[in-house]
Amino acid sequence: MKLIVRLTAATAILATMTLSAETAPNPNAAEAKAIVQEFATTLQGELQAAMKDGGPTNAIAVCQDRAPAIAATLSESSGWQVGRTSLKTRNSNNAPDAWEQKVLADFDARRAAGEDVQPMAYAEVVETADGKTFRFMKAIPTGEVCLACHGRDITPEVAAALDERYPDDMARGYSLGDVRGAFSLSKPL
Ligand code: HEC
Repeated sequence: MKLIVRLTAATAILATMTLSAETAPNPNAAEAKAIVQEFATTLQGELQAAMKDGGPTNAIAVCQDRAPAIAATLSESSGWQVGRTSLKTRNSNNAPDAWEQKVLADFDARRAAGEDVQPMAYAEVVETADGKTFRFMKAIPTGEVCLACHGRDITPEVAAALDERYPDDMARGYSLGDVRGAFSLSKPL
């Protein structure tokens, strides 16, 4: 009898510890989120300005040149590896590795189960050949502005401009609210 009581108490303490470990703010996740925020705000600002200036055909160059440039600048200034990926990439340089594929598939499943895409994220410490690495992904929802280049009804001019630059483009046919892809960040611990 006494033993059972003790065990129950021990289980309760363990449960509390697990709970607090899950709810405690993780400084790495917070840092990753701040970098994602900066990436998203900078890119969206430049994309929207270019769309306003000359429409989607003009703005393709912003996505092509500026997205990788912003990612490179942020990687250099932060010490994190920063990029974007998707299960259906436009640029194969952004192709997901096995871990990213699994997380992206999970994001799709979470959305199908009714979860809001905007705050959707996942973090994990993974073992690599070089030791422990903190990995973080933040889902990117498909917004209205994205449909001109990633939607189902892309104009022939935009389609032609995309075909010219991305003969292996898979990133079309998305609908509003779909998970378009994710920001993916990693940092050796
Ligand atoms: C003007 C056309 C255009 C618009 C509008 C646009 N994109 Fe893209 N998108 C591109 C191009 C071009 C690339 C390839 C960039 C590269 O070469 O790295 C791309 C790549 C991406 C990628 C990287 C993964 C991949 O497919 O290679 C993501 C994620 C993405 N876009 C999300 C979005 C989201 C979300 C929006 C709306 C907020 C959006 N895009 C709006 C043209 C566009």
